[in-house]
Amino acid sequence: MRRKLAAGNWKMNGLASALSELDALQDAASGAAEVLICPPATLISSASSHAGNVTIGAQDCHSAPSGAHTGELSAEMLKDAGASAVILGHSERRADHGESDAYVAYKTQAAWAAGLTAIVCVGETLNDRETGQTLDVIGSQLSGSLPDDCTGENTVVAYEPVWAIGTGKVPTTEQIAEVHTFMRSTLMSRFGDDTGSAIRLLYGGSVKASNAAEIFAVSDVDGALVGGASLKAVDFAPIVEALNAS
Ligand code: PGA
Repeated sequence: MRRKLAAGNWKMNGLASALSELDALQDAASGAAEVLICPPATLISSASSHAGNVTIGAQDCHSAPSGAHTGELSAEMLKDAGASAVILGHSERRADHGESDAYVAYKTQAAWAAGLTAIVCVGETLNDRETGQTLDVIGSQLSGSLPDDCTGENTVVAYEPVWAIGTGKVPTTEQIAEVHTFMRSTLMSRFGDDTGSAIRLLYGGSVKASNAAEIFAVSDVDGALVGGASLKAVDFAPIVEALNAS
């Protein structure tokens, strides 16, 4: 049985004053679903010291364990600061920093080596979708970004259509179902039925309280990766409650 996961990605938002949002999430986070908040790295340590029912994650890590990489953070540093998971291969990093599938796979191995769960993001652009390439793109991102030793414990996959992130545009439930069914069968054929069916699959892109319940009703959607609507507990808690009720 896969435990549902509501993950919040604060991106480059949040000063120390934002930590009060974690306090306001405690009730919603005491339900069946796991609740994870990935604040900016500057807040991981302070967030983890009063996380309560919420687990704390990071938004990226370097592929190397240490070394001369000015400005970068290793997975071990994030773990040491209190993170238990890390988002990898987010489309903003793929676009802004040129991260390839192979680089995401190296980062995933670095995350595992430090004991972090890797939340590996994949997703098609609008052009990919309009030219009928969605499943090909998702298939090749999964193939290139996931190392061979994935398990249900060390890896979560997030499907985030690039055109749905921060835009208010959401795929239909049929479109989400098509991709999630495809991802599940792809993972099962690569990693075997047991492992492939244990890896949690999140949907991400303009999830909000008003659309969460219908997205969570789609089969093989095990939760959400939420950006904008995770910044305030008043927006995120109803999403978590919808997941608890699903
Ligand atoms: P959004 O972002 O919820 O603001 O669309 C999702 C994400 O980038 O993970």
